[in-house]
Amino acid sequence: MNVNGKAYRSICSDDAKRVVHIIDQTRLPFVFETLTLVNCSEVAQAIRSMQVRGAPLIGVTAAFGMAMAMQQNASDETLNESVEMLKVTRPTAVNLAWALAAVKQHVSIQPHHRRADAAWLFARKLADSDVAANEAIGNHGLNVIRALHEKLRRPVNILTHCNAGWLATVDWGTALACIYKAHDAGVPVHIWVDETRPRNQGLLTAWELRGHGVPHTYIVDNAGGHMMQHGRVDMVLVGADRVSKNGDVANKIGTYLKALAAHDNAIPFYAALPNSTIDATLNDAFRQIEIEERSDTEVRSVIGLQGNNALECAPVLILDHKTPVFNPAFDITPARLVTGIITEHGVFAPAQLATAIED
Ligand code: MRU
Repeated sequence: MNVNGKAYRSICSDDAKRVVHIIDQTRLPFVFETLTLVNCSEVAQAIRSMQVRGAPLIGVTAAFGMAMAMQQNASDETLNESVEMLKVTRPTAVNLAWALAAVKQHVSIQPHHRRADAAWLFARKLADSDVAANEAIGNHGLNVIRALHEKLRRPVNILTHCNAGWLATVDWGTALACIYKAHDAGVPVHIWVDETRPRNQGLLTAWELRGHGVPHTYIVDNAGGHMMQHGRVDMVLVGADRVSKNGDVANKIGTYLKALAAHDNAIPFYAALPNSTIDATLNDAFRQIEIEERSDTEVRSVIGLQGNNALECAPVLILDHKTPVFNPAFDITPARLVTGIITEHGVFAPAQLATAIED
């Protein structure tokens, strides 16, 4: 997508130097800065610190990390070590484990002298296929939003949680791809952007929407239920980090509460995600999905600009260390609260998903 008139992807490969350029998402929306990652350890650290984040982007970045490891040493030992190093960086989004397994499978059957090239080309293909999948998701989501607009005959008010935009993928986004496609097709939309404490990914969503000219309003996380009761939300549309084949949706903490409120107010709740986010191995999402627990410092402080014109962001303490903190990063919305799942292959009711992924 465009930033100040220039086309960007959230990750770009330099194929000659075998490095990747990323946007440091910990500094947005205050500072737009790109960073270069040159080896697998730097990639692992960028994922862990959430300089890159969002399920699809984590997967693709990790694939490049493995390719960099192969560049340094193409042994089986390095292959296994790089998988282990990257796998533990963020446990909930299945795209990470999926991408690592796919690269490993592809590379391990190659002779050692071909592994670095094979891994790099494979990571590039994953990046390109993510863009294609997200654009297809956007087109299917556009149909859902257009149908709602034709029924309502006014702008569609969509509430979104966290950031499921182009920053969270290689390009387009998932939930936001549907919104960009609707906006570009002339379907009027207005987006309620959840702040998404503690890391405030809503700031990223607002930054993206403003860049694309999509009307939006930033709200605190607790406002959604009230707004749904007052007819100010027509649809909830989120991304996902892992989805079971029966349609349970793991996504950013707070998604479940939005789904409950949507259900209580008969408002449709959709999750948009690529096939790589569906974990067909799950029998019981509630027991089997590891919910990442992050540092208490994310809750004890908020990050903001140091001064009005300063370009340095800094944490401000809002809670001292005497009070214990618990910081789960994701929750699971049960399939019974999900109206539809939008993938690159179409829009499915949760009960249809298993058949759809087998086809
Ligand atoms: O902790 P984050 O910022 O990586 O969480 C991101 C989300 O929960 C997104 O909704 C999800 O990854 C889908 S992104 C297309």
